Amino acid sequence: MMSRINDNLKADIKAFFGASGSGKTYSMLKSVPPGKRALAFDPAGSVTSTDKSFKGVTSWREFMALSKQRGNIRIAYQAPGKANFEKWCKWVFALADARQECYLIVDELSGVTSPAKAPEHWNNIINLGRKFGLKIRAGAQRPPEIDKTLIGNHNGIWIGHMARTGDAEYLAKETDIHVQEILKLRSSPYHDCIMFERRGVYKAHIAKRPVT
Ligand SMILES: Nc1ncnc2c1ncn2[C@@H]1O[C@H](COP(=O)(O)OP(=O)(O)OP(=O)(O)O)[C@@H](O)[C@H]1O
Ligand SMILES: [Mg+2]
Repeated sequence: MMSRINDNLKADIKAFFGASGSGKTYSMLKSVPPGKRALAFDPAGSVTSTDKSFKGVTSWREFMALSKQRGNIRIAYQAPGKANFEKWCKWVFALADARQECYLIVDELSGVTSPAKAPEHWNNIINLGRKFGLKIRAGAQRPPEIDKTLIGNHNGIWIGHMARTGDAEYLAKETDIHVQEILKLRSSPYHDCIMFERRGVYKAHIAKRPVT
């Protein structure tokens, strides 16, 4: 019998790192196939302003009611802070079901996690979500500020323009990509990036002309 859990599903966890304006939110949303079920934690309202297929709600009751529906809904919860993030994580994990895969989008992790281990429910999403059909897309401006659980479990990183050399060095250490290659990524209007898959496997996208 089909159940809520399917051990055969593959992990799909992607992290997006770049300075403000580098293109994290844009690229994160591009990586979610159109028409698929998706639930977002969107403290700044960037998800709904970047991708019009998402309905943004500020009321928790409304988010619960809408996200309980089955099928390919796309809903963003627009509220800041750690307490709201943990509430969101607990709820979307409880809803997760291997029979209906769902993309979870966390637009800005730095305000809601810390460099220590991930908070309980976010940790469950990262470590157990695969079997429940969850696919994760999470972004942060500064990689050293966010939880090590995500850093340890991703299977892909999008790297955009870094504002600080120290942050580029952090990612260079994490990926074995040469720091100079990360430091040369440009922000708007080029939105250069590196798509890192695993050690030794990555691709740089350097724009020939401005893209915005
Ligand atoms: N590859 C791209 N092609 C075209 N436009 C892009 C691209 N990447 C980003 N943009 C545009 O550049 C602007 C900034 O991108 P985005 O909002 O994704 O930045 P961000 O990294 O999420 O910034 P912040 O950390 O401030 O949220 C947006 O208007 C977005 O539509
Ligand atoms: Mg953004």
